[in-house]
Amino acid sequence: MTITILGTGYVGLTTAVLFTHAGHTVYAIEPNKERLDIIKSGRSFFYEKGIDELVSSALETGRFFPTDSYDESVEQSEVVISCVGTPDNPDGSSNLTYIYAAARDAIARLRDGAIFVQKSTVPVGTGEKLKKIIATSGKNIPYVSNPEFLSESTAVADSLFYDRLVVGGDDGDALRTILDLYKTIEDKRNDMAAIAGITPLDKPMRHITTTLNSAELIKVSANSLLALKISYANSIAKLADKAGADIKEVMDAVGADERIGKHFLNAGRGYGGGCFPKDVSGLIASGLEYGVDLEIMQAAQSLNESMAGYIVEKMQDAMHGSLQSKKVAVLGLSFKANTSDTRRSPGIKIANMLCKAGADVSVYDPKAIEEAEPELHRRARIADSTEDCITDADAVLVATNWQEFLEYEPRLLAEKMRSDLFIDAINGYNVTDIEAAGLRYIGVGRNGEKAGEEN
Ligand code: UGA
Repeated sequence: MTITILGTGYVGLTTAVLFTHAGHTVYAIEPNKERLDIIKSGRSFFYEKGIDELVSSALETGRFFPTDSYDESVEQSEVVISCVGTPDNPDGSSNLTYIYAAARDAIARLRDGAIFVQKSTVPVGTGEKLKKIIATSGKNIPYVSNPEFLSESTAVADSLFYDRLVVGGDDGDALRTILDLYKTIEDKRNDMAAIAGITPLDKPMRHITTTLNSAELIKVSANSLLALKISYANSIAKLADKAGADIKEVMDAVGADERIGKHFLNAGRGYGGGCFPKDVSGLIASGLEYGVDLEIMQAAQSLNESMAGYIVEKMQDAMHGSLQSKKVAVLGLSFKANTSDTRRSPGIKIANMLCKAGADVSVYDPKAIEEAEPELHRRARIADSTEDCITDADAVLVATNWQEFLEYEPRLLAEKMRSDLFIDAINGYNVTDIEAAGLRYIGVGRNGEKAGEEN
């Protein structure tokens, strides 16, 4: 098949190279010249495990064409897959400017019978509006919603070994064509995993066919429920701090109930990234549009927004009320480990709050410095390494679970610092190990009497 992918972000570029390796001819449209040149040189412009290898080998097949032009690509495609960005508007609703612009540009060029697939996350009801635009074109272009569930940092692995594949729409033939298209990836997933250096997984993959509106709602509801779980854990963490319990002990046992599940119950500095904050506010906005007050999601959102300030306050209390001229090291600027993405990064938010409170802040991240720089407070010093960042610090705060931070020897940390405060904003450390190195440990919901006692 000939396929055009609109947009080459985490979703678009991953999808494009996987379909190429599955045997198809793939055009990937990227309007940004700098990004396009990087892809054409055989790399990705973002950090993601295995993607560079898949991009360079996709180019070698002679069937992968990164381009900035809709003309040749869309006109000869049987399937167009929209993976363009959906930033949020200042009021929290989704900004669909790129979605509509890309769809209009594609519809104008698509031939009759070609299928338009929406992979970008859009508010429920968007597909119905796009179908009206298709109808006014006079062409027969079936519209399929095919929401994406990949996580950044595991984009390739998630796209090869998924739990479920959802396709929604009202054209049965088009839905079957798209399911068959994905089967071509499934057939070659182990070969592609080998190219990407990813361990293959043997897991069942469910194919789910729904209506258009259901497919759209599945995506934002799934992300919002995961965000809700995190905010729930964080609200109980605040209680644990006051009541003298350890949130890790609490959530480990709560999550041991299979009906609840252990995932996304890790309390800490809250969720960031390009998806959860946007999808929660998008769902709230959709609720308002349809006259439904999603108070539960509003609570999850404001709890999440409170977490950075909560941690800074804990730090301030531990430093006897003032952060003025205190040397603070913030480790971790990406919104989670193994990605260079800094969108809505809790680490950056905390570092900037500390700068505003008068602290002398140094920051470090193994992959995200370049992306973080424009968002950082001008007073933040960018360090060259973990060691450079923590040297002579009064306090060290870890905001991202990068392996190199988790593996840093607490004893070395204590030696390099000039004082002894360790803030674990990701609840990723063993309290006993930190305290054994002579440091004072502060986590999120872990400072009860029992915190640190390992059984
Ligand atoms: C999320 C979803 O997990 C994907 O399934 C979805 O496809 C994707 O959004 C999307 O809509 O494109 P992602 O944003 O890449 O993926 O990252 P997650 O791993 O879900 O983490 C989101 C945030 O939650 C991170 O800041 C992470 O540190 C935080 N988090 C995660 C917690 O604070 N606690 C947890 O227990 C888990």
